[in-house]
Amino acid sequence: MPDSLQMLINALVLLTATFLFLWASRRKRREREPPLENGWIPYIGLANQFRKDPLKFLISLQEKHGDVFTVCIAGRYFTFIMDPTQFQYVIRNGKKLDFHEFSNEMASRTFNYPRLTESKFPQLQDGMSKIYKIMQGKSLDKLSDSMMINLQRVFKWKFSQATDWRTENMYQFCCSIMFEASFMTLYGRDPVADGRNVISEMREKFTKFDAKFPYLVVNVPIALLGDTKTIREQLIHFFMPNKMDARRDLSDVIQARKDILENYDVLQDYDKAAHHFAFLWASVGNTIPATFWAMYYLVRNPEALAAVRDEIDHLLQSTGQKSRSDCDIHITREQLDSLVLLGSAINESLRLCSASMNIRVVQEDFQMELEDDQTVSLRKGDFVALYPPALHKDPEVFEDPETYKFDRFVEDGKEKTTFFKKDRRLKTFLMPFGSGSSKCPGRFFAVNEIKQFLAVLLVHMDMEIAENKFLSLDNSRVGLGILLPDSDIKFRFRHRGSDSS
Ligand code: HEM
Repeated sequence: MPDSLQMLINALVLLTATFLFLWASRRKRREREPPLENGWIPYIGLANQFRKDPLKFLISLQEKHGDVFTVCIAGRYFTFIMDPTQFQYVIRNGKKLDFHEFSNEMASRTFNYPRLTESKFPQLQDGMSKIYKIMQGKSLDKLSDSMMINLQRVFKWKFSQATDWRTENMYQFCCSIMFEASFMTLYGRDPVADGRNVISEMREKFTKFDAKFPYLVVNVPIALLGDTKTIREQLIHFFMPNKMDARRDLSDVIQARKDILENYDVLQDYDKAAHHFAFLWASVGNTIPATFWAMYYLVRNPEALAAVRDEIDHLLQSTGQKSRSDCDIHITREQLDSLVLLGSAINESLRLCSASMNIRVVQEDFQMELEDDQTVSLRKGDFVALYPPALHKDPEVFEDPETYKFDRFVEDGKEKTTFFKKDRRLKTFLMPFGSGSSKCPGRFFAVNEIKQFLAVLLVHMDMEIAENKFLSLDNSRVGLGILLPDSDIKFRFRHRGSDSS
């Protein structure tokens, strides 16, 4: 027999033996553990089926196994809890089901800073979490006021170009305005550099990095992602301590993060800058697509747009401000809260487009108690996962779930918070911002920003879609937050009140 044939046979025997070994040593379901789906490819498990269409895949397993089941996905075991009436049991078990272990590992790898272990950086994680209070309650007023000023500054420049109908790509439009206004609000300004040019340069790099973000999260080596490593380094360098020291009007939240990072001599300058970059990603990575979808659905639905605009016009009139004028408008945080139709329209677009998976790492083998004296055995090191789109698209909770209904979250002129599953009122019915200990600390600021963006836009601009197509969701960042559209779309806009002939 020729040597090459013998080598081929040996390789095949070895491959088959490895496959059989892995097959035989696959996980076996233990007593009281949820139904288990290993898939037939060892290690990979059902990763491909999940990636293709997670919602369809999970619902098919729910039909087969019920509301709790475990799936092998790329070497990890995920126990999915599908029934939203049971979510509270996961949320309450913060100690045994830890969020930070997962997020810390993922964030440090993606944004290139050392893991925040308690032994090396005592109290840092805790200190950072405490700072997030500055983005909530009364403290949010200052941040929101500053955002309104910056938004109108950026918008004014845009509007000055729109005396007659002007056509632009809608995603691009939202991205440039929200990136610049959010960046100025959080990170202030560099008194020397030409602000607009630096921010445009940063935005372009950010967009490139963001496109590769889903790959970094699932651990694809950065060396395989073209120039992503260089772009990430360039982005991090924008935030080096000497550059941060030179900036003026830093927001309180960034100043507090800067101060706390300065206390840790074990952090290199580059590491501190990487933390600031990570926060930049958190603050705009989801807000930009969320703003886009809120705007897209309103412009697509003229009835919704008219109703929301009416609500804003009415507020401005009642506070003695003129809509349709070139003057800046001022809307306080409380007034933003009172815009229930606008809030509902934003919630509705978040319902349709958010797909962040809530993941917890099981800290020890234990029996998790669920409703009606049910218990489920969980193994240390496994993931427990909630997948909000299954709730957001559940026809029992949201009638006609695929349809955009801008006033779905309004009842008797107030915010609607009563949604039911199995005749039980749900505590948690909308989860774009995560849950429990991992709930987004920037959620109030984020919703305010989107409201402010839409208020300024609707007060000053007439708009219409300029392309005959409907957008779908691009699933490449499923599990990670707000999904992007599968393409951009052209729209026309001009100053409201310009000749309406
Ligand atoms: C529509 C916009 C936003 C959405 C949908 C969103 C969503 C989320 C979600 C789902 C998480 C939890 C991640 C997880 O469970 O793994 C999170 C975390 C976080 N978000 Fe947001 N977010 C938004 C806007 C913002 C803004 C504007 C800021 C800050 C200004 C912000 C700051 C953060 C931070 C710092 C964390 C990490 C918290 C931690 O480490 O515990 N987010 N966000």
